Amino acid sequence: LLQSTLCRLKEKVRDIPDFPKKGVLFRDITPLIGDGQFFRLVMMIFLERYQRRKIDKIAAIDARGFIFAGALAHILGIGLIPIRKKGKLPYQTFETQYASEYGLNTLTIHRDAMRKGEQVLILDDVLATGGTAEAAAKLVESCGGSLVELGFLMELRGLKGKERLSRYPVYSILQFP
Ligand code: PRP
Ligand code: MG
Repeated sequence: LLQSTLCRLKEKVRDIPDFPKKGVLFRDITPLIGDGQFFRLVMMIFLERYQRRKIDKIAAIDARGFIFAGALAHILGIGLIPIRKKGKLPYQTFETQYASEYGLNTLTIHRDAMRKGEQVLILDDVLATGGTAEAAAKLVESCGGSLVELGFLMELRGLKGKERLSRYPVYSILQFP
């Protein structure tokens, strides 16, 4: 990938200081996905990385992960598994608690979301502390899925998420400090 392309993509992520609370610098992806050419570019990069891999299911993390996972599942013709915040999934679930920057949360997955040994790609927009992604990975494993990779549009390096996820393959298109 050309460095200049990555720079142009990065410029489409808008910095919002003190959101959702004081001291947090929010990396806002809405300008990027709001531009069809840039959104398509992101999806082409994911497509290039994953089209030749054996992937049986794409697991999408509620909520912003749905944007990228939905688009990739569609292009690849692969089934989409929603990993959702507690209280949203109607059937029997597995659940995992995790600490976010803002407090305790619970993620859930349908117990029958995948068959044992299926190859699963997890996608989300941002890797920050890695708490969310780690919980998602555990849920996939609870269902018997085998993790192909955790893929992100961007990684916020300072929060050390990649270290927290060191036992899994991790990929991000963009890296921020
Ligand atoms: C955000 C982001 C990632 C997560 C990363 O989701 O979309 O899913 O935080 O943080 P972590 O690596 O520290 O766990 P959030 O739950 O805040 O909101 P969303 O529902 O808009 O995706
Ligand atoms: Mg999220």
